[in-house]
Amino acid sequence: MEILDLRHFSSVDLRSLLEDEIHVWSRLLTWDYTGSAEMILRYVDAKILPGYAAVDRGRIFGFAFFVYEGSKGVIGDLFVANGGRLPDAHEVEARLLTHVIETLQQSPGIHRVEAQLLLHETGQVARPFTQQGFSRHSRLFMMLPLANAKPPSASHAEIEIRRWSEQDYQSAAAVITTAYRGHVDSNINDQYRTLSGSLRFLNNIVRFPGCGTFDPESSFVAVHKRSHTLIGVILCSRVRHDVGHVTQICVLPESRSHGIGESLLAATAYNLQQRKFTLLSLTVTEANKRAVDLYLRLGFDTKRIFDAFVWEG
Ligand SMILES: CC(C)(COP(=O)(O)OP(=O)(O)OC[C@H]1O[C@@H](n2cnc3c(N)ncnc32)[C@H](O)[C@@H]1OP(=O)(O)O)[C@@H](O)C(=O)NCCC(=O)NCCS
Repeated sequence: MEILDLRHFSSVDLRSLLEDEIHVWSRLLTWDYTGSAEMILRYVDAKILPGYAAVDRGRIFGFAFFVYEGSKGVIGDLFVANGGRLPDAHEVEARLLTHVIETLQQSPGIHRVEAQLLLHETGQVARPFTQQGFSRHSRLFMMLPLANAKPPSASHAEIEIRRWSEQDYQSAAAVITTAYRGHVDSNINDQYRTLSGSLRFLNNIVRFPGCGTFDPESSFVAVHKRSHTLIGVILCSRVRHDVGHVTQICVLPESRSHGIGESLLAATAYNLQQRKFTLLSLTVTEANKRAVDLYLRLGFDTKRIFDAFVWEG
């Protein structure tokens, strides 16, 4: 088995591996990975996707890629096929990751590396990260069946929950930056730390199909009626024809504990249910106890536990 630069290959070499990966995303996360897989194949053909392939007798059976975002490297995916006469998958995952991590840590100007590998159960791929000085944060993948979603109760005299609009960009970025100040999630994703970073985060969620397709109809903002200021936001993407995924939910610190988070989630869940969606999923850092407790109270179930890894050089 050899580990080779991904840019030696084309979509023809990678397509059947990505088809396997699409099945695994569907089985484990009820996520339709087809759009992401097509995007990966386009980048592979353009020879612009940095990464590594595991090759056995001329056939690719595993790969990992990363992207550069300014002075940060983000590991985008790691997938290794299993079974038959193939080498042990965990060992190959560790070798691919070691190559990716070494490349990123040695890239001039790269001072930070982030990775969130949803397909890999907590601990499964931790070793190459912890050996290279990464910190590790447990994250939960949670799911809510939508069959019994109720319309949100209009219980806030001063707050209006209304649909997301393009004009909310700037104020939503400001809410995100304030909501995550000193928060564990701004250690995992450093975009939350600045207004420009939060705008980039929003742009990625709303305009690019990496994390499903943004669904403006089930995305809402909470607005203070008198001052017209935004105090909370929930963003939802479609990750399968009938599955929504919350990519962001936050409420300003001074407005918390009044049921606004719950109302935002209810608005999203009810909207999706009315449009024949069957499930709503989200991810949350295990240490974010307030949020985890809220989701559990609303009926979300933990389906998987995975890890987020961060290195700061
Ligand atoms: C998670 C978050 C969105 C929750 O928003 P929120 O508006 O405070 O949520 P709610 O008020 O609906 O519920 C939170 C708590 O307030 C309580 N609460 C709800 N209505 C209340 C009221 N009228 N009076 C007093 N307490 C109330 C709820 O019981 C709940 O407490 P519990 O979780 O201990 O049961 C908010 O804490 C936040 O923005 N955190 C930072 C960003 C973040 O972590 N986002 C989630 C990432 S996955």
